[in-house]
Amino acid sequence: MAEFKLDPAWEKDIAEKQEFVNLWLERLLPPEDSVPVELHEAMRYSVMAGGKRFRPLLALYAYELSGKDPVSAVRPACALEYIHTYSLIHDDLPCMDDDDLRRGRPTVHKKFNEAIAVLAGDALHAYAFELLASSGNSRLVSEVAKAIGTYGMLGGQICDILAENREIDIEELRHIHSHKTGALIRVSLRVGAILAELGENDLELISNYGAKIGLAFQIVDDILDEISDTETLGKTAGKDKESGKATYPRTVGLEKSREMAEQLILSAKDDLSRMSMPADVFHIFADLIISRQY
Ligand code: IPE
Ligand code: IPE
Ligand code: MG
Ligand code: MG
Ligand code: MG
Repeated sequence: MAEFKLDPAWEKDIAEKQEFVNLWLERLLPPEDSVPVELHEAMRYSVMAGGKRFRPLLALYAYELSGKDPVSAVRPACALEYIHTYSLIHDDLPCMDDDDLRRGRPTVHKKFNEAIAVLAGDALHAYAFELLASSGNSRLVSEVAKAIGTYGMLGGQICDILAENREIDIEELRHIHSHKTGALIRVSLRVGAILAELGENDLELISNYGAKIGLAFQIVDDILDEISDTETLGKTAGKDKESGKATYPRTVGLEKSREMAEQLILSAKDDLSRMSMPADVFHIFADLIISRQY
């Protein structure tokens, strides 16, 4: 994957923002000792297991383009991570990808049981919408609902399952990946940008950037599943091949997959360069996506 050396000042800024997100994710979750204890434990177990916090970071940095204090956007930003974590818990279930390891730990259905995994996912999903609604901005609620519904993430997830052990062409694959993963990443940027009251042109450009880095993110996920190892990934490597998943490497080969991801990153950066304000941090996120190791 492309070599990328992160500037130390940005590295520090991003690490601090991750810490800030982690603090709020923890603070906003229901206490572990409140009833139903099992469900609250499972929610904490999955959310606080680590994770790159990519989606809330995108939302917060988009919000900061307005120069406002990120605390005002932290609840919607955390909502995006709760939704992402819910999607991972369900994605790992035996009826879906049937995975035993996530974020370096046993998956929720392994650690607890399947009923708790289904319900902990549902609970994070519901709670996320409570937080989004608390912003008082109904546009956030409808945009996120649409992005993760049947025309978004869930639409992508069902197509992903139905494409197992079947030859598909690059167009169908692009549809799957941009829906199952790209849609939530795109809307994460939109949540921050809408709260920041960015103009329509900038909103459009950052959305296009989001769709492109979102698709590239999933292409890289496919590549890493093939070339990396379980310890580095914190999830079982080589699982896509074993499950007959439709992936970029399987469809176009590793080299072409890398090229396609790099092309998307370049095109995403071009969208950024046409925005009316500097968006340096998003150039860095684009580079981070393509060079990430896990
Ligand atoms: C994993 O997402 C699932 C995909 C959409 C590819 P991440 O790679 O963002 O997982 P965490 O949140 O860092 O664990
Ligand atoms: C996950 O895609 C997409 C969602 C959870 C919506 P994958 O199934 O490829 O993600 P991993 O590899 O299990 O993290
Ligand atoms: Mg999956
Ligand atoms: Mg999976
Ligand atoms: Mg994967």
